[in-house]
Amino acid sequence: MSTTAEEQAKLVETSKRLAAYQAVKDHLLPEYTRIGIGSGSTVVYVVEAIAALGPAATSKMAFYPTGSQSEELIEAAGLTLQYISKLPAGQQLDVAFDGADEVDDDLNLIKGGGACLWQEKIVAASAKQFVCVADFRKLSPRLGMAWKKGIPIEVLPMAAPRVLDELQRMGSQTPRIRPGLPGKAGAIVTDNGLWIIDAPFAPLLLPKDTEADRGSDGAWTVDALADGLIKIPGVAEIGLFYGKNGLQVASGAQKPVAAYF
Ligand code: 5RP
Repeated sequence: MSTTAEEQAKLVETSKRLAAYQAVKDHLLPEYTRIGIGSGSTVVYVVEAIAALGPAATSKMAFYPTGSQSEELIEAAGLTLQYISKLPAGQQLDVAFDGADEVDDDLNLIKGGGACLWQEKIVAASAKQFVCVADFRKLSPRLGMAWKKGIPIEVLPMAAPRVLDELQRMGSQTPRIRPGLPGKAGAIVTDNGLWIIDAPFAPLLLPKDTEADRGSDGAWTVDALADGLIKIPGVAEIGLFYGKNGLQVASGAQKPVAAYF
C-alpha cells in the first residue's frame, strides 16, 4: 500500500517526536546541570520533551545552544540559556542532544543541513556524551546514500572559489555554494558569518571496508576524506562527525553515541 506525501510527512514528524522523547527519557539524568542543544527540526522535539519535564526537574539545568535557532528554542521553552564560551576550561557538558542528516552503520554522521555544523561540533566536542536523535530516514549503510545534497563545509567566503576547485580535484563533481534562504539573495551566511559549500561525494567507505584511503572505485573512507577536507585552506569546519563510536573530533572523544530511529 503506498502512502501519500501527507501521510509520509506525518510519519516522519511522529518518528522525530518519538525519537526525541525517548532520547530525553534515556539520557537526560536528573543530576545533570549542563546540557548541549543542537539545531534543526528534530531538536525542536528534544526541547519540547525537556520542557515537558517541568521546572522542578529542569531548574538546576543550563542549556548550551549551537546557534541562533537553538538559542531561541531554549529561551522560548523557558529553560536557562548559557553559552559554551562561558564553560570554564577543564569542564564539560554532561550531555549534548542533536540531530543529523545521515547516520551510517558505524554511527558516523553527516551534519550541517541547517548550516550550524561548526558550533554543533564545538558543543558536541565539549560534552561527555553526544546523543544523536534521528528519524528512520536518516540511517544508511554509507554516508552519501541517503543524504545526496553533499557534505556541508563551512568556508571563508573569500576562499570559496579555491575550495570549490580543490573539492573537484578530490572527486566531488558538483560542489556548490549553498544559496540563501528563500527570499534572500546570495549565499547563505552562517551564525559565524561564513558560507556553506555542499560537496557531494560517492558514498563513503568505512575504515573496515579497506585499509587504503580510497576504494578501488575511488570512493573515500570517511576518515580519509575528513582528514583531507579539513586541511583545505579556507575550510573552517566540515559536517562529517566521525570516528570510533561515531564522534571523535579534534578535542577528544565523546561516547557513546546513541541514535534513535
Ligand atoms: C543542522 C544539523 C541538523 O541537526 C540536521 O540538519 C538535521 O536536521 P533535522 O532534524 O531538521 O532533520 O546538522 O546544522
